[in-house]
Amino acid sequence: MHLIVLDNDTDFEGWRKAARQLASHDVRPADVTWQIRSDDALLPTSRANEMPDAPQVQFNVPARFVELARTAILHCHDERFALLYRLLWRLRSHHDLLGTTIDPDVAEVHAMARAVYGDIDRMHAHLRFREIGREHKAHYVAWFEPEHHIVASAAPFFASRFADMPWSILTPDVCAHWDGHAISITSGIAKSEVPSEDRLEEVWRRHHNGLFNPARLKLMEAPQAYWRNLPEDSIIKPLIEDAMRMTSGPFIARRASEPQKRQDVPMPRKQAHDRQAHEAIADAIAALREEAAACRACPLWKDATQTVFGEGPQNATLMLVGEQPGDKEDLAGHPFVGPAGQMLDRALKEAGIDRAKVYITNAVKHFKFVQRGKVRLHQKPGTAEIRTCRPWYQRELAAVRPELVVALGATAAQSVLGKITPINKNRGRLIEHDGTRVLVTVHPSYLLRLPDESTKALEYQHFIDDLKIAAGQLRDAADAA
Ligand code: URA
Repeated sequence: MHLIVLDNDTDFEGWRKAARQLASHDVRPADVTWQIRSDDALLPTSRANEMPDAPQVQFNVPARFVELARTAILHCHDERFALLYRLLWRLRSHHDLLGTTIDPDVAEVHAMARAVYGDIDRMHAHLRFREIGREHKAHYVAWFEPEHHIVASAAPFFASRFADMPWSILTPDVCAHWDGHAISITSGIAKSEVPSEDRLEEVWRRHHNGLFNPARLKLMEAPQAYWRNLPEDSIIKPLIEDAMRMTSGPFIARRASEPQKRQDVPMPRKQAHDRQAHEAIADAIAALREEAAACRACPLWKDATQTVFGEGPQNATLMLVGEQPGDKEDLAGHPFVGPAGQMLDRALKEAGIDRAKVYITNAVKHFKFVQRGKVRLHQKPGTAEIRTCRPWYQRELAAVRPELVVALGATAAQSVLGKITPINKNRGRLIEHDGTRVLVTVHPSYLLRLPDESTKALEYQHFIDDLKIAAGQLRDAADAA
């Protein structure tokens, strides 16, 4: 029997080193015991982390296993180290094992990783700082009770979002501290040890009506468990009830993470008499939105507030594709709600298109930016990010099946057409691509950036003309149906 002692709950490097060594000596999973070092445990240290002398076997595992293991190791389950070693041991002779989703070990490790991501998302969304010690030097403190060992992984998000203020995130697991330069991690504390000064809580409560964003409360995920982490928990129920009233209109997809109410949406034209097909589409979009909320396929999720998925009626005949959510969209959880969205709304209206009937999405579903002081400056997504995010657009397209897709700007065109497509050369003409009719035009932000008023007016008119081509197409398609 081999006893492996890891430094702490999240000692991935320790696990990785030991696991590689054990597997290369062909040590069976049943012959390994994994433990976390604890100051008071009496460990037989002479046998801990000792390896046999057998000849070593070389092997490789897929890179995605390493990433999966790095995440799953943050799960609170005591057996996670053993499960991950069992998988590593099996992967030596079954390189494609991770693709066998019905395998119990594979299913379990994926479920663990999902739970960890969900916990990180909830911490990002629900954590609230309070100011303490203002007489001397302001410091911000938040209490949180994560389910898994996620504090060190979730903390960089707060360091970039609240870069200018020193803060501490206190949890029973570990505490994270930011001094404006670096994050440090110390041991966890009991809730009773949290500084009790709560001068700002009343301010929080009074102002929270203005700040409250129902999109960040995922009611489907039993967030009540997290309300205890919020200073505004005493008023949260009435706020949610208000938010429900505000968002219960026909265009309910504006709640970022809840499925659309099917009865509020007219029957799709393509399957006018087929309620089952209609419901299947609604379910598909709702399921996609939920799945995309946990997307970690590229690193953009780390700094963004949330995934901003497409929204609009699932029977839309027109799909608009933008570049990526901007600052406002990232915070609100909805596409095109900031300045570019207002310009788009105006242009759609002038072209005779009702935005409420359009499915609107983006090529990239997370906000890419650089932090400059308090400002988050938009950064254009690169080809790798566009490619990585493209399956989401493709799945939205397959679910909505619009008559026409309008790509707004170069990033959208690259995603929709699957290759770099110059806008000026291609705009305003219908392009058939893989069975989808596509129209390419400029992005509304391009119009916003034009410095010269007369050029702006001309370009705006050109944009409306392009949208009118789209409107005409939709009329023709409706007539032909
Ligand atoms: N720009 C985009 O491309 N999409 C948005 O959602 C907002 C601005």
